[in-house]
Amino acid sequence: MKVTLIPGDGIGPEVSAAMVRVVDAATGGTIEWEEHLAGSGAVDAGHSPLPAPTIQSIRQNRVGIKGPLQTPIGSGWRSVNVSMRQALDLYVSLRPVKSLPGPSRARYEDVDVVVVRENTEGLYSGREHEAVPGVVEALKIVTRAASERIVRYAFEYARANGRRKVTVSHKQSIMPLSEGLFLDAARTVAEDYPFTDVEYVGLDNLVMELALDPHQFDVIVLGNLDGDVVSDMCAGLVGGLGMVPGANIGTKFALFEAVHGTAPDIAGKGIANPLALILSAELMLRHVGELAAAEKVRAGVERVLADGSVLTGDLGGSATTEEMTDALMEAL
Ligand code: NAI
Repeated sequence: MKVTLIPGDGIGPEVSAAMVRVVDAATGGTIEWEEHLAGSGAVDAGHSPLPAPTIQSIRQNRVGIKGPLQTPIGSGWRSVNVSMRQALDLYVSLRPVKSLPGPSRARYEDVDVVVVRENTEGLYSGREHEAVPGVVEALKIVTRAASERIVRYAFEYARANGRRKVTVSHKQSIMPLSEGLFLDAARTVAEDYPFTDVEYVGLDNLVMELALDPHQFDVIVLGNLDGDVVSDMCAGLVGGLGMVPGANIGTKFALFEAVHGTAPDIAGKGIANPLALILSAELMLRHVGELAAAEKVRAGVERVLADGSVLTGDLGGSATTEEMTDALMEAL
Protein backbone atom coordinates (compact mmCIF):
# COMPACT_ATOMS: atom_id res chain seq x y z
CA MET A 1 0.00 0.00 0.00
CA LYS A 2 1.29 3.45 -0.91
CA VAL A 3 0.65 6.36 1.43
CA THR A 4 1.48 10.01 0.72
CA LEU A 5 3.61 11.44 3.51
CA ILE A 6 3.92 15.19 4.03
CA PRO A 7 6.44 15.61 6.87
CA GLY A 8 5.41 19.26 7.28
CA ASP A 9 7.11 22.24 8.91
CA GLY A 10 8.63 22.94 12.34
CA ILE A 11 8.47 19.78 14.46
CA GLY A 12 6.71 18.01 11.54
CA PRO A 13 9.78 16.16 10.21
CA GLU A 14 10.73 15.03 13.74
CA VAL A 15 7.33 13.59 14.65
CA SER A 16 6.85 12.18 11.13
CA ALA A 17 10.10 10.21 11.38
CA ALA A 18 8.92 8.77 14.70
CA MET A 19 5.51 7.90 13.23
CA VAL A 20 7.06 6.12 10.23
CA ARG A 21 9.30 3.99 12.52
CA VAL A 22 6.33 2.93 14.63
CA VAL A 23 3.96 2.23 11.73
CA ASP A 24 6.63 0.25 9.86
CA ALA A 25 7.15 -1.88 12.96
CA ALA A 26 3.41 -2.41 13.51
CA THR A 27 2.67 -3.31 9.89
CA GLY A 28 5.87 -5.23 9.17
CA GLY A 29 6.86 -2.62 6.61
CA THR A 30 3.95 -3.10 4.21
CA ILE A 31 3.47 0.62 3.61
CA GLU A 32 5.44 2.39 0.89
CA TRP A 33 5.75 6.04 1.87
CA GLU A 34 5.63 8.59 -0.95
CA GLU A 35 7.08 11.78 0.46
CA HIS A 36 5.89 15.21 -0.75
CA LEU A 37 6.25 18.85 0.21
CA ALA A 38 3.70 21.44 1.30
CA GLY A 39 3.69 24.65 3.36
CA SER A 40 6.91 26.51 4.16
CA GLY A 41 9.01 23.52 3.16
CA ALA A 42 7.57 23.72 -0.36
CA VAL A 43 8.03 27.51 -0.60
CA ASP A 44 11.65 27.27 0.62
CA ALA A 45 12.27 24.73 -2.14
CA GLY A 46 10.94 27.18 -4.75
CA HIS A 47 7.43 25.71 -5.16
CA SER A 48 3.94 26.99 -4.37
CA PRO A 49 2.68 26.30 -0.79
CA LEU A 50 0.59 23.44 -2.16
CA PRO A 51 2.45 21.95 -5.13
CA ALA A 52 0.41 20.07 -7.73
CA PRO A 53 2.44 16.81 -7.34
CA THR A 54 1.50 16.71 -3.64
CA ILE A 55 -2.23 16.82 -4.39
CA GLN A 56 -1.73 14.44 -7.31
CA SER A 57 -0.02 11.93 -5.03
CA ILE A 58 -2.92 11.93 -2.56
CA ARG A 59 -5.38 11.56 -5.43
CA GLN A 60 -3.45 8.55 -6.67
CA ASN A 61 -2.82 6.86 -3.31
CA ARG A 62 -6.14 7.94 -1.80
CA VAL A 63 -4.58 8.07 1.64
CA GLY A 64 -2.12 10.55 3.10
CA ILE A 65 -0.72 11.59 6.46
CA LYS A 66 0.77 14.97 7.20
CA GLY A 67 2.71 16.84 9.81
CA PRO A 68 1.67 20.38 10.69
CA LEU A 69 2.09 23.12 8.10
CA GLN A 70 3.01 26.71 8.76
CA THR A 71 0.67 29.40 7.46
CA PRO A 72 2.54 32.70 7.96
CA ILE A 73 0.18 35.40 9.15
CA GLY A 74 -0.27 38.21 6.62
CA SER A 75 1.84 36.45 3.98
CA GLY A 76 -0.92 36.37 1.40
CA TRP A 77 -1.11 32.56 1.47
CA ARG A 78 -4.40 30.91 2.05
CA SER A 79 -4.20 28.25 4.73
CA VAL A 80 -2.70 25.22 2.99
CA ASN A 81 -4.80 22.99 5.22
CA VAL A 82 -8.03 24.66 4.08
CA SER A 83 -6.89 24.54 0.42
CA MET A 84 -6.18 20.80 0.70
CA ARG A 85 -9.56 20.08 2.27
CA GLN A 86 -11.33 21.93 -0.51
CA ALA A 87 -9.19 20.53 -3.34
CA LEU A 88 -9.79 16.94 -2.20
CA ASP A 89 -13.33 17.53 -0.92
CA LEU A 90 -12.37 16.22 2.52
CA TYR A 91 -15.74 17.11 3.96
CA VAL A 92 -15.36 15.42 7.33
CA SER A 93 -13.06 16.49 10.11
CA LEU A 94 -13.08 13.56 12.50
CA ARG A 95 -11.62 13.93 15.94
CA PRO A 96 -11.98 11.08 18.41
CA VAL A 97 -11.22 12.47 21.87
CA LYS A 98 -10.48 9.71 24.35
CA SER A 99 -8.84 9.77 27.77
CA LEU A 100 -5.42 8.14 27.87
CA PRO A 101 -3.57 6.73 30.88
CA GLY A 102 -0.66 8.49 32.52
CA PRO A 103 -0.01 12.05 33.64
CA SER A 104 -2.06 14.78 32.07
CA ARG A 105 -3.82 18.01 32.83
CA ALA A 106 -7.18 16.33 32.25
CA ARG A 107 -10.05 17.29 34.52
CA TYR A 108 -12.03 14.18 33.64
CA GLU A 109 -11.31 10.48 33.23
CA ASP A 110 -12.94 8.06 30.81
CA VAL A 111 -13.96 10.69 28.29
CA ASP A 112 -14.79 9.14 24.93
CA VAL A 113 -16.34 11.67 22.56
CA VAL A 114 -16.12 11.77 18.77
CA VAL A 115 -16.43 15.19 17.15
CA VAL A 116 -17.58 15.18 13.52
CA ARG A 117 -17.16 18.60 11.94
CA GLU A 118 -18.26 19.85 8.52
CA ASN A 119 -15.00 20.75 6.80
CA THR A 120 -15.80 22.60 3.56
CA GLU A 121 -18.27 25.45 4.07
CA GLY A 122 -19.94 27.53 6.81
CA LEU A 123 -18.00 30.61 7.89
CA TYR A 124 -14.77 28.97 6.68
CA SER A 125 -15.87 29.23 3.05
CA GLY A 126 -13.12 31.84 2.67
CA ARG A 127 -15.48 34.42 1.18
CA GLU A 128 -14.95 37.70 2.98
CA HIS A 129 -14.46 41.24 1.72
CA GLU A 130 -14.42 44.84 2.87
CA ALA A 131 -17.86 46.19 1.90
CA VAL A 132 -16.87 49.80 2.63
CA PRO A 133 -13.84 51.00 4.60
CA GLY A 134 -14.27 49.83 8.17
CA VAL A 135 -16.96 47.27 7.39
CA VAL A 136 -16.08 43.68 6.55
CA GLU A 137 -18.52 41.02 5.49
CA ALA A 138 -17.82 37.29 5.81
CA LEU A 139 -20.18 34.93 4.03
CA LYS A 140 -21.44 31.87 5.81
CA ILE A 141 -22.37 29.26 3.21
CA VAL A 142 -24.68 26.44 4.26
CA THR A 143 -26.04 23.97 1.74
CA ARG A 144 -28.54 21.18 2.27
CA ALA A 145 -26.27 18.78 0.38
CA ALA A 146 -23.21 19.40 2.60
CA SER A 147 -25.33 19.43 5.77
CA GLU A 148 -27.00 16.14 4.95
CA ARG A 149 -23.77 14.39 4.05
CA ILE A 150 -21.94 15.41 7.23
CA VAL A 151 -24.86 14.37 9.43
CA ARG A 152 -25.16 11.10 7.51
CA TYR A 153 -21.45 10.50 8.07
CA ALA A 154 -21.99 10.98 11.82
CA PHE A 155 -24.84 8.46 11.92
CA GLU A 156 -22.94 5.97 9.75
CA TYR A 157 -19.90 6.38 12.01
CA ALA A 158 -22.08 5.76 15.07
CA ARG A 159 -23.57 2.64 13.50
CA ALA A 160 -20.23 1.22 12.37
CA ASN A 161 -18.55 1.86 15.72
CA GLY A 162 -21.26 0.74 18.11
CA ARG A 163 -22.00 4.25 19.33
CA ARG A 164 -25.34 4.86 20.98
CA LYS A 165 -26.12 8.52 20.44
CA VAL A 166 -25.62 11.38 17.97
CA THR A 167 -25.84 14.95 19.23
CA VAL A 168 -26.55 17.55 16.56
CA SER A 169 -25.45 21.01 17.62
CA HIS A 170 -26.73 24.22 16.02
CA LYS A 171 -27.59 27.87 16.65
CA GLN A 172 -30.92 27.95 14.91
CA SER A 173 -32.45 30.38 17.39
CA ILE A 174 -30.13 33.20 16.23
CA MET A 175 -29.56 32.21 12.57
CA PRO A 176 -32.89 30.67 11.58
CA LEU A 177 -32.07 30.41 7.87
CA SER A 178 -28.51 29.07 7.78
CA GLU A 179 -28.59 27.08 11.02
CA GLY A 180 -32.22 26.22 10.40
CA LEU A 181 -31.22 24.58 7.12
CA PHE A 182 -28.51 22.56 8.89
CA LEU A 183 -30.97 21.50 11.59
CA ASP A 184 -33.66 20.58 9.09
CA ALA A 185 -31.18 18.54 7.05
CA ALA A 186 -30.13 16.74 10.25
CA ARG A 187 -33.72 15.88 11.15
CA THR A 188 -34.30 14.49 7.66
CA VAL A 189 -31.19 12.28 7.83
CA ALA A 190 -31.97 11.12 11.39
CA GLU A 191 -35.20 9.53 10.12
CA ASP A 192 -33.06 6.95 8.32
CA TYR A 193 -31.45 5.87 11.61
CA PRO A 194 -34.30 4.94 13.95
CA PHE A 195 -32.05 2.77 16.13
CA THR A 196 -29.60 5.53 17.03
CA ASP A 197 -30.57 8.03 19.70
CA VAL A 198 -30.47 11.61 18.49
CA GLU A 199 -30.63 14.92 20.30
CA TYR A 200 -30.57 18.51 19.04
CA VAL A 201 -28.72 20.92 21.30
CA GLY A 202 -27.99 24.64 20.99
CA LEU A 203 -24.27 25.33 20.70
CA ASP A 204 -24.08 27.42 23.88
CA ASN A 205 -25.87 24.74 25.87
CA LEU A 206 -23.66 22.03 24.37
CA VAL A 207 -20.49 23.78 25.48
CA MET A 208 -21.79 24.24 29.01
CA GLU A 209 -22.92 20.61 29.27
CA LEU A 210 -19.55 19.40 27.94
CA ALA A 211 -17.78 21.35 30.66
CA LEU A 212 -20.17 20.00 33.32
CA ASP A 213 -20.21 16.34 32.29
CA PRO A 214 -18.64 15.16 29.03
CA HIS A 215 -19.65 11.54 29.71
CA GLN A 216 -23.20 12.26 28.55
CA PHE A 217 -21.94 12.71 24.95
CA ASP A 218 -20.97 10.17 22.35
CA VAL A 219 -20.85 11.41 18.71
CA ILE A 220 -21.30 15.17 18.21
CA VAL A 221 -21.87 16.63 14.74
CA LEU A 222 -21.50 20.35 14.02
CA GLY A 223 -20.86 22.98 11.36
CA ASN A 224 -17.35 24.14 10.47
CA LEU A 225 -16.55 26.99 12.87
CA ASP A 226 -18.56 25.48 15.75
CA GLY A 227 -16.85 22.14 15.20
CA ASP A 228 -13.40 23.71 15.16
CA VAL A 229 -13.97 25.35 18.53
CA VAL A 230 -15.80 22.45 20.18
CA SER A 231 -13.22 19.88 19.07
CA ASP A 232 -10.43 21.87 20.72
CA MET A 233 -12.56 22.23 23.81
CA CYS A 234 -13.05 18.46 23.90
CA ALA A 235 -9.28 18.04 23.56
CA GLY A 236 -8.97 20.26 26.63
CA LEU A 237 -11.24 17.88 28.56
CA VAL A 238 -8.67 15.08 28.14
CA GLY A 239 -5.61 17.21 28.89
CA GLY A 240 -4.95 19.32 25.81
CA LEU A 241 -4.09 19.11 22.13
CA GLY A 242 -0.81 17.24 22.64
CA MET A 243 -2.13 13.73 22.12
CA VAL A 244 -5.29 14.16 20.09
CA PRO A 245 -5.33 12.70 16.57
CA GLY A 246 -7.35 13.91 13.62
CA ALA A 247 -8.54 12.89 10.18
CA ASN A 248 -9.91 14.71 7.15
CA ILE A 249 -12.09 12.34 5.20
CA GLY A 250 -13.96 12.56 1.91
CA THR A 251 -15.74 10.06 -0.29
CA LYS A 252 -12.56 9.33 -2.27
CA PHE A 253 -9.58 10.45 -0.20
CA ALA A 254 -8.46 10.71 3.41
CA LEU A 255 -5.72 12.79 4.98
CA PHE A 256 -4.66 12.15 8.57
CA GLU A 257 -2.94 14.69 10.79
CA ALA A 258 -2.14 15.57 14.36
CA VAL A 259 -4.18 18.43 15.72
CA HIS A 260 -1.22 20.47 17.00
CA GLY A 261 0.78 22.99 14.97
CA THR A 262 4.44 23.35 14.00
CA ALA A 263 5.55 24.30 17.55
CA PRO A 264 8.23 26.77 16.38
CA ASP A 265 9.43 27.22 19.98
CA ILE A 266 10.74 23.64 20.17
CA ALA A 267 11.30 22.82 16.48
CA GLY A 268 14.68 21.26 15.72
CA LYS A 269 15.39 20.43 19.36
CA GLY A 270 14.30 16.80 19.15
CA ILE A 271 11.97 17.07 22.13
CA ALA A 272 8.51 17.12 20.48
CA ASN A 273 5.90 14.62 21.58
CA PRO A 274 5.24 12.32 18.60
CA LEU A 275 2.14 10.62 20.02
CA ALA A 276 -0.52 12.79 18.35
CA LEU A 277 0.79 11.95 14.88
CA ILE A 278 1.29 8.31 15.86
CA LEU A 279 -2.34 8.15 17.06
CA SER A 280 -3.38 9.80 13.77
CA ALA A 281 -1.56 6.95 12.03
CA GLU A 282 -3.58 4.54 14.17
CA LEU A 283 -6.75 6.15 12.74
CA MET A 284 -5.27 5.79 9.27
CA LEU A 285 -4.56 2.09 9.80
CA ARG A 286 -8.16 1.57 10.93
CA HIS A 287 -9.40 3.50 7.89
CA VAL A 288 -7.56 1.18 5.49
CA GLY A 289 -8.59 -1.95 7.41
CA GLU A 290 -5.20 -2.71 9.02
CA LEU A 291 -6.95 -3.33 12.32
CA ALA A 292 -4.34 -5.57 13.94
CA ALA A 293 -1.59 -3.02 13.28
CA ALA A 294 -3.85 -0.23 14.59
CA GLU A 295 -4.50 -2.16 17.82
CA LYS A 296 -0.76 -2.72 18.24
CA VAL A 297 -0.02 0.98 17.92
CA ARG A 298 -2.80 1.90 20.35
CA ALA A 299 -1.71 -0.67 22.94
CA GLY A 300 1.92 0.45 22.61
CA VAL A 301 1.02 4.10 23.21
CA GLU A 302 -1.13 3.21 26.22
CA ARG A 303 1.65 1.07 27.69
CA VAL A 304 4.27 3.81 27.36
CA LEU A 305 1.92 6.35 28.94
CA ALA A 306 0.83 4.04 31.77
CA ASP A 307 4.46 3.15 32.51
CA GLY A 308 5.28 6.86 32.65
CA SER A 309 9.06 6.56 32.84
CA VAL A 310 9.89 7.75 29.30
CA LEU A 311 7.86 10.85 28.52
CA THR A 312 8.59 14.07 26.63
CA GLY A 313 8.67 17.43 28.40
CA ASP A 314 5.08 18.39 27.60
CA LEU A 315 3.99 15.30 29.58
CA GLY A 316 6.20 16.16 32.55
CA GLY A 317 9.16 13.97 31.57
CA SER A 318 12.55 14.76 30.10
CA ALA A 319 12.83 12.23 27.26
CA THR A 320 13.65 13.19 23.69
CA THR A 321 11.37 12.37 20.76
CA GLU A 322 13.73 9.54 19.85
CA GLU A 323 13.83 8.08 23.37
CA MET A 324 10.06 8.07 23.60
CA THR A 325 9.85 6.44 20.16
CA ASP A 326 12.40 3.82 21.28
CA ALA A 327 10.20 3.06 24.31
CA LEU A 328 7.20 2.71 22.03
CA MET A 329 9.09 0.37 19.71
CA GLU A 330 9.97 -1.78 22.70
CA ALA A 331 6.34 -1.76 23.84
CA LEU A 332 5.23 -2.86 20.36
P1 NAI B 1 1.23 24.87 18.16
O1 NAI B 1 0.33 23.70 18.35
O2 NAI B 1 2.30 24.75 17.14
O3 NAI B 1 1.97 25.18 19.56
C1 NAI B 1 1.29 25.53 20.77
C2 NAI B 1 2.14 25.05 21.97
O4 NAI B 1 2.07 23.63 22.06
C3 NAI B 1 3.62 25.40 21.85
O5 NAI B 1 4.13 25.73 23.12
C4 NAI B 1 4.24 24.12 21.37
O6 NAI B 1 5.59 23.94 21.76
C5 NAI B 1 3.35 23.06 22.01
N1 NAI B 1 3.28 21.83 21.20
C6 NAI B 1 2.58 21.66 20.06
N2 NAI B 1 2.77 20.43 19.59
C7 NAI B 1 3.60 19.81 20.44
C8 NAI B 1 4.18 18.50 20.47
N3 NAI B 1 3.91 17.59 19.55
N4 NAI B 1 5.02 18.21 21.49
C9 NAI B 1 5.28 19.11 22.45
N5 NAI B 1 4.77 20.35 22.48
C10 NAI B 1 3.95 20.70 21.48
O7 NAI B 1 0.31 26.13 17.87
P2 NAI B 1 0.69 27.60 17.36
O8 NAI B 1 1.92 28.07 18.06
O9 NAI B 1 -0.56 28.36 17.51
O10 NAI B 1 0.97 27.48 15.81
C11 NAI B 1 2.28 27.44 15.25
C12 NAI B 1 2.15 27.25 13.72
O11 NAI B 1 1.49 26.01 13.44
C13 NAI B 1 1.35 28.33 12.98
O12 NAI B 1 2.08 28.67 11.80
C14 NAI B 1 0.05 27.67 12.62
O13 NAI B 1 -0.49 28.17 11.43
C15 NAI B 1 0.49 26.23 12.46
N6 NAI B 1 -0.60 25.25 12.69
C16 NAI B 1 -0.74 24.23 11.78
C17 NAI B 1 -1.69 23.27 11.98
C18 NAI B 1 -1.80 22.17 10.97
O14 NAI B 1 -1.05 22.12 10.02
N7 NAI B 1 -2.75 21.25 11.13
C19 NAI B 1 -2.60 23.29 13.14
C20 NAI B 1 -2.34 24.37 14.05
C21 NAI B 1 -1.37 25.32 13.82
